[in-house]
Amino acid sequence: MKVTVVGAGAVGASCAEYIAIKDFAAEVVLLDIKEGFAEGKAMDLMQTASLNGFDTKIVGTTSDYSKTANSDIAVITSGIPRKPGMTREELIGINAGIVKSVSSSILAHSPNAIIIVVSNPMDTMTYLVHKTTDIPKHRIIGMGGALDSARFKYRLAEALDCPISDVDGMVIGQHSDKGMVPLTRMSTRNGVPVSNFLSAERLEQVAADTKVGGATLTGLLGTSAWYAPGAAVSGLVQAIANDQKKIFPCSTLLDGEYGLSDICIGVPVILGRNGIEQIVDIPLNDAEKAQMQASAELAAKTNSLLEI
Ligand code: LAC
Repeated sequence: MKVTVVGAGAVGASCAEYIAIKDFAAEVVLLDIKEGFAEGKAMDLMQTASLNGFDTKIVGTTSDYSKTANSDIAVITSGIPRKPGMTREELIGINAGIVKSVSSSILAHSPNAIIIVVSNPMDTMTYLVHKTTDIPKHRIIGMGGALDSARFKYRLAEALDCPISDVDGMVIGQHSDKGMVPLTRMSTRNGVPVSNFLSAERLEQVAADTKVGGATLTGLLGTSAWYAPGAAVSGLVQAIANDQKKIFPCSTLLDGEYGLSDICIGVPVILGRNGIEQIVDIPLNDAEKAQMQASAELAAKTNSLLEI
């Protein structure tokens, strides 16, 4: 299994690190446009191998896509991150050009790669990859829901005052402060609905804190987060590499599922060796449907800004 991570910034380097630490990939290629930067990060990470006990080989390159040849999976993290006060949507102009050129360079050397899109605004960048490449939709995956769900579980555990491993829950919809749909009704603490433990008001607060999870961190850090985004990507990559058939909410092109079409938005999918092996169309109640509809409208509005 060969994985390419484009963009050796904080998110890309964290992806490479978590993938390596989990030790399921033979090789991770880290590529960046900044001279020597990916090589440096790769060397630093390789010097953790004996300490962290992994055998994954990490290779860095400055823009040499021939080094990425025959990758099974390519993760696109490149582009500019949010600064405090910015929305993910404001990044569209610069990041669209980058994502379009990166996906075409990846596919020129790895025509069979599964592409995981991380760059923001992520759902729209995922849609852009659909519109500007000719690869089938099951090989284009937007990473946002796995991250938002991890943040949701963190907030649920905080409210429940319990370990995060006791909690299960999912966030679907657009990866944006306004478009996320935390599925509070379906969240559980060890199989018990969380509404048994928390008031409706507390659960609303959990959902609200989850939706601004990225913005809260951007305010604290001065740039967008990287540990949880990197870990979320590594989870998707591992599910594909090991053909795990795990469910993650991912951004995918919808064709009637959830009553939506011609839009990329986060929904639960089963991930395996072929990428998105199934979209799981779960029945939503009226309130959740209305939130999904509003979320899709936001995503469509952002997509309309693309110059394809
Ligand atoms: C975040 C960025 C990666 O939510 O979108 O932290």
